[in-house]
Order: sequence, then structure tokens, then C-alpha cells
Amino acid sequence: MGRRNLKGIMKELRIGLIGCGFMGRAHSNAYRKVNQFFDLKYRPVLAAVCARNHDHAAAFAARWGYESVETDWKQLLRRPDIDAVDICTPNQSHAPIAIAAARAGKIILCEKPLAMNAAQGRTMVQAVERARVPNMVWYNYRRVPAVTLAKRLIEEGRLGKIFHYRAKFLQDWTISPDLPQGGAGLWRLDVKAAGSGVTGDLLAHCIDTALWLNGSMDSVTAMTETFIKRRKHTLSGKVEKVGIDDACAFLARFRNGSLATFESTRYARGHKALYTFEINGEKASIAWDLHDLHRLAYFDHGDEGRLRGWRSIHVTDHGGEHPYMDKWWVPGLQIGYEHSFVHQVADFLAGLADGKPVSPTFRDALATQNVCDAVLKSARTHRWEKVAR
Ligand SMILES: NC(=O)c1ccc[n+]([C@@H]2O[C@H](COP(=O)([O-])OP(=O)(O)OC[C@H]3O[C@@H](n4cnc5c(N)ncnc54)[C@H](O)[C@@H]3O)[C@@H](O)[C@H]2O)c1
Repeated sequence: MGRRNLKGIMKELRIGLIGCGFMGRAHSNAYRKVNQFFDLKYRPVLAAVCARNHDHAAAFAARWGYESVETDWKQLLRRPDIDAVDICTPNQSHAPIAIAAARAGKIILCEKPLAMNAAQGRTMVQAVERARVPNMVWYNYRRVPAVTLAKRLIEEGRLGKIFHYRAKFLQDWTISPDLPQGGAGLWRLDVKAAGSGVTGDLLAHCIDTALWLNGSMDSVTAMTETFIKRRKHTLSGKVEKVGIDDACAFLARFRNGSLATFESTRYARGHKALYTFEINGEKASIAWDLHDLHRLAYFDHGDEGRLRGWRSIHVTDHGGEHPYMDKWWVPGLQIGYEHSFVHQVADFLAGLADGKPVSPTFRDALATQNVCDAVLKSARTHRWEKVAR
């Protein structure tokens, strides 16, 4: 880190990306775009991509413009020309890679969920804090402009006291009993690779957003279900027990006194990735929907009575000081899912230049992991469980 590029204006941050699936693509796209749209003191350089299969890594490197290829992440960590490691692999590998990367003194960006469980997450937090390396977890929905605007409205006190938080994340892609578990593309169904099912995969996003918008959680009571109990395992070829939760619903009490409901499933026929939340306060309510991600629904009880109603704010207007939007197009033209990753990289690079941690850090993401653990424990014990602090 600290090498200057040809123009001598921006410092280079040489990235080593591990895992070139869905998130490998989303992050590579963000690294390539960020300096075109944001004025920053750092410039990410696509130094190396790591995948276990050389041909796969080489094809990815050629497509995205990575300078080099590795097939073993331990070798990547040994390279002195790599400043930052980006972990885009399935959940079970986050801890070993992140802990080794911290020991190697690398900056770490890690996909969510931080870990398989909170105990593992704590060891990751210790490792990065001991090594004092900048770190961040990709809970990208915080940086959808409409969600960032929701945060600002809450911070301005526009909702007043918050009574209710309601979140859902619904999908339908695992309904077929013929779908195997494990291996490429299907590791999410294998508890040994994923840690849990919808709780760590989808609800983790809902929980991260909720903790950010509404503060910490006190206690939860949950139910989970595994609708299809046995599936063929891609790697062993045998029919094996399914260890993940296919669906999870939980109630929560936040420390600010508000009550919450959370629901996630991969069995909601017709829904592909429907993440929604609604927050009801004393003075106002807000609602957001991933399928219409540039809009924020807002109801203000302070409006004149005959005009009072839900507004749909098209969060695209820099004149209206909508977050991040001054960096993109003219007001009224919207952006999409991939931009949330560009925003997260931009914030991370700005934080590096200022020497400030950028949220969510590993420690912030551990709070989500603590909630996930309490939810899964409650589903087993059938009792209310306290969320660890
Ligand atoms: N932030 C988000 O919205 C979001 C969305 C999807 C996934 N994720 C997270 O990103 C991570 C990856 O998910 P994905 O959807 O990209 O999965 P994916 O299956 O599309 O890609 C994972 C990649 O990791 C590679 N891989 C596995 N083990 C490896 C190893 N030891 N060394 C090198 N490469 C290895 C696989 O070959 C594959 O290319 C997961 O932790 C997931 O929870 C986050």
C-alpha cells in the first residue's frame, strides 16, 4: 500500500480477491467502477484472483482484468504485493482465511455472514483487532441510497419513538426435493459449508440493517423448519440429512423498547429475493422493498391532515441531498443493486485515507452473528433467548 500510480495522484490498493462466483463478480465490478464516479485518494488495483481451479481463475482474470492468478489462498497471503484480501468464498472458509490474512498484516474485506457462528466470529474480531488491520464486512444493503436515507431520517428524529420493526427476506429456489446439497452453487444447502440456512444467509442481512437503523436487540424467540429433511450430497453422491434451516421466523425485543418480527424462507413460491422492511414510529413510518430499491415509502403524521398519506420518495435527486446520488446521473435516473457495492468500496477507501474504520467492521458484524446464534438457540430450546452483547 502507498505506491503511487503514474499520475502520482492516487495511492494504489492492491487487491487479492478470493472466490470468483456471484460476489467475486459484484466486488470486481465495484473495484473497476469506483474511481470513475467517486473522488478518492485510493485506487483499487486488481492484482490477483484466487480460485481452486486454475482455468476458472484464469478466465475470470482475463474477463475482469486481474494481473495474476493463484490457486491457493495461503500463497496469495504470502505475496508482499497484495495489500488487501477480499474474501468471497463460502462461509466456512471466512474464519481461516481472515485469521491468516490478519496475521499476514493484510487489510481484509470479508463477505457476510462474518462467520459460521458467534464463537468463530469472536476469534476473527480478536485477530483483526490484535493485528490492527482495517477490516469490513459486505453488508451492502446499508449503502442502497434509499436505506441510507432511512438511516438519516431516523437519526434526525423524524420517526420519534420507534414502536415496531418488521422485516422479511423471501425466496423460492429450494422447493424441489430433487435439488442436491453441497458443492458449487449449492453450498448454501450444506450446513458444513454454510453454518446455517436462511438465518445466516438472508436474515443476517435483515438483522444487520435492523441493528444499524434501530439499535441493539435484547432478546428473541424463534421457530425454524427444514421442510426437506434429506437430500443427495453433490460431493459424496449419497443421500444425507439436511442440517440447515429452510425457513425461520422470529420475534425480537430491541433495547429501545420496540417490538420486531423477522421472517425468511426459501419456500415462498413466487418470491426470488424479496427483502422488505417497515419501521413504525410515533411521528412517522418508513418502508423499503428491494424489488423497488430506489424508492423509500414515508408517512409523516405531521403533514397537513387532508394531504396526509404515504409518499413514495424516488431516491435519485441530488438537489434533494439523496445519499450517493450526486456521484451518478441526473436527478430522476435510478441506479441498481450493484451500486451498493460501489458505494461500500468508496466508503472503505475514504476511510482508509482518513485512517477511520468503516462500518460494518468485523466487530459490528459480530453483533449480527450474536443475534443469529440466539435465534437458532431459541428455535432449539423453544424459549426466549437473550442476545449476547
Ligand atoms: N452481500 C451480499 O449480498 C451477498 C450475496 C451473495 C453471497 N454473499 C456471500 O458471499 C460469499 C460467497 O457467496 P457467492 O454467492 O459468491 O458464492 P458462489 O458459490 O457464487 O462463489 C463462491 C466461490 O468461491 C470459490 N471457492 C470456494 N472455496 C474456495 C477456496 N478455498 N479458495 C478459492 N476459492 C474458493 C468457489 O469456487 C466459487 O467460485 C458467501 O459468504 C455468501 O454468504 C453475500
